[in-house]
Amino acid sequence: MCGIVGMIGKGAVAPLLVEGLRRLEYRGYDSAGIATLVDGEIRRRRAEGKLVNLERLLESQPLSGTIGIGHTRWATHGVPNEKNAHPHATSRVAVVHNGIIENYAELKAELTKAGQVFESDTDTEVVAQLIDFHLAAGLAPEDAVAAALKRLHGAFALGILFAGRDDLLICAREGSPLAIGYGAGEMFLGSDALALAPLTQKISYLEDGDWAVLTADGVQVRDRAGNPVERQVRLTQFSGAMIGKGEHRHFMLKEIFEQPQVVGDTLNTMLNPASRTITLMDLPFDLGSVNRVTIVACGTSYYAGLVAKYWIERLAKVAVEVDIASEFRYRQPVVAKGDLAIFISQSGETADTLAALRWCLDRGMNTIALVNVAESTIARTAHAALLTQAGPEIGVASTKAFTCQLTVLACVAIALGRANGRLPATEEARLSQALAEVPACISEILRADDGIRRVAEDIAQARDVLYLGRGTGYPIALEGALKLKEISYIHAEGYASGELKHGPIALIDDHVPVIVVCPSDELYDKTASNVQEVIARGARVVFLSDKEGQARLVNKPLAAFTLPSVDPFVAPILYAVPVQLLAYHVAVAKGTDVDQPRNLAKSVTVE
Ligand code: F6R
Repeated sequence: MCGIVGMIGKGAVAPLLVEGLRRLEYRGYDSAGIATLVDGEIRRRRAEGKLVNLERLLESQPLSGTIGIGHTRWATHGVPNEKNAHPHATSRVAVVHNGIIENYAELKAELTKAGQVFESDTDTEVVAQLIDFHLAAGLAPEDAVAAALKRLHGAFALGILFAGRDDLLICAREGSPLAIGYGAGEMFLGSDALALAPLTQKISYLEDGDWAVLTADGVQVRDRAGNPVERQVRLTQFSGAMIGKGEHRHFMLKEIFEQPQVVGDTLNTMLNPASRTITLMDLPFDLGSVNRVTIVACGTSYYAGLVAKYWIERLAKVAVEVDIASEFRYRQPVVAKGDLAIFISQSGETADTLAALRWCLDRGMNTIALVNVAESTIARTAHAALLTQAGPEIGVASTKAFTCQLTVLACVAIALGRANGRLPATEEARLSQALAEVPACISEILRADDGIRRVAEDIAQARDVLYLGRGTGYPIALEGALKLKEISYIHAEGYASGELKHGPIALIDDHVPVIVVCPSDELYDKTASNVQEVIARGARVVFLSDKEGQARLVNKPLAAFTLPSVDPFVAPILYAVPVQLLAYHVAVAKGTDVDQPRNLAKSVTVE
C-alpha cells in the first residue's frame, strides 16, 4: 500500500525517482508524485491515476534537482486526486508516507489552531505540517523530525525533504517497510530493495521505531530512544533489470504460464526424485514434537493455508487451525508455547500477517514464514523461512505464488507426518512421486487454455458466478471466486458443495454459471450429486474434472474442462490453474485492467 522512494544523487534525480516508482507501482496506483529541490526550494509534480500520468506531466513540466522524494499512492484518507497526492509539502518541508497516521484528526485540529494551513484531506499532511511547525519554531531538521515522531500514532514509512538542504533526507519506520540503499557518494531510500535495485545492491532495513539521517556520504540510524544503532548491510538478490511480459499480453498470463517452471523449482528445493523423499531446511525446533499447527495468512495465501489444513490433518494427524490474519490478531486465540505457527505471504510484508507473527513470537510459539520474498520483513522476523521459488509476481492477482505455496505446504505436510512417525516411508514415496509429476501436468493444462477461453466469453456476460468444491476442492472454489471478482469485477462466491442446500442454492437460476471443482477422489460422488441438483434448477455448469470424472457425470454440463488424472493429493495444485485461466479470460473479455485491477494493491502494508 503506497510506495516511497528518496535519493541524494549526483545528477538529476527526477528520472530515477520515476524509475523507482515504476518498480513500486504494485503497491498502489491511485496517484503518483515527486518533489525535488530546485535552487533550494521545494518543487513538486503530482498526477492523479497511474504513474504514466506523472511521466506525461514531467515531459511537459520537467523537474531538475539532485535530491528528491517520490510516492505512488493507494488511497486511504482522501479521494485519489492531485490535491491528495504525495508529496505533501509546505515551503519548508515535503513528506512521502506509506501507512496510516491514526491520530491525524487530533493533530490536524491542534495544528490548525496553531495557525498551520492544510490543503489536502489526507492523514499524511499532518506529518508535513507538524515538522513545519517545529522548523518554524527554529528547530533543526533532525530535532523537528524527532519531536514530530513522538506525536505520531499508527503505521508509517516516511521520507522527508527539507528546503535549503540539498544534502539531507530523513526517513523513519514504524510498521511499514523501509530500506536504505548505499551508493558511492549517493544515498537512497525506498519501500523495498526492488525499487532501489537499478541504483544499488547494498541495502539495509530499518527496524520499527528507527529513523535515519541520510547525507551523500552515508547514513546514521537511531532507534526509538534516539540511540545510534547499526543495521546490517546486505546484498539484495533483486536484479536491476525491469521484468517484462515476454510474449504475453499481461503479467498475469505470463505468470500463469510460468507455473510448470516455478513449481518445479520450488519442488527442487525439497524433493529428492531419486529417493522420493522430502527434506525441509534445518528448522530450529523439532517437527516431530509438533502437536498443533496454526496457519495465519490473508487472501489467496489464506486459501493456500486452508488446503494445508486438509493435508496436514490427513497425513500427519496433527490438528490445524487456519485463520485470517486480521481476525487472528484481535480475537485472543488460545495458543501454547512451543506450538507451531506458519505465516503464509507472497510479499512477506502484509501488515496483518506480520502483526500476527509478532503476536505469536511474544507467546513463545515456534514460527515459520512461508514467503516468496527472501528479504521481506516476515521472512526476517520468523524463526525460519521456507521460500517459494515463484520469482517476482507483478500481476496484482496472485497465481504462481499460490501454486508454489501449495507445493511447499504439501511438502510440509509430508515432512510433519514423517517426523512424527504417522506417515510411512512408502506413503512418502508415493506422494513425492505424485508431486514430481505436477509440473508436467500443469503444462498439459496450459496447452488446453483455448477451451477455457471459449467458456470465458459466456461467463463474462454473468452478473453472479458460484464456485463449488469439496475437501481440498473447497479452498480452490474460494480461490477461483476471489480471482474472478478481483480482476473481472463479477460478483462470485465459493462454497463447500455440501453447504449448497443450506442457503446458496436459492441463488441458482439459468443466469448463474456454477464452476465445479471435482477431481475423481473419494468425494466425487457427493459433489456430482450436487451438480445434478443445480443442473435440475437450470444452472449453467462448468465442470472441472479428469477423464474418469467427466465420463461418470450423468447430465451433461454447459462446459466440461478435462484435467490430467492424478493422485487426489496433488489435485488442488492442478485445479488452481483452470480457475486462474478462467478469471483471466473473463477479465480480458470484459476489457478490465487485468494486471492492476481497480482499488487493489499487491502489498497490503496497512491493516
Ligand atoms: C489475491 C491476492 C491477495 C493476496 C493477499 C495476501 O489474488 O493476491 O488476496 O493473497 O493480499 O498477500 P500476501 O500473500 O503478500 O501476504
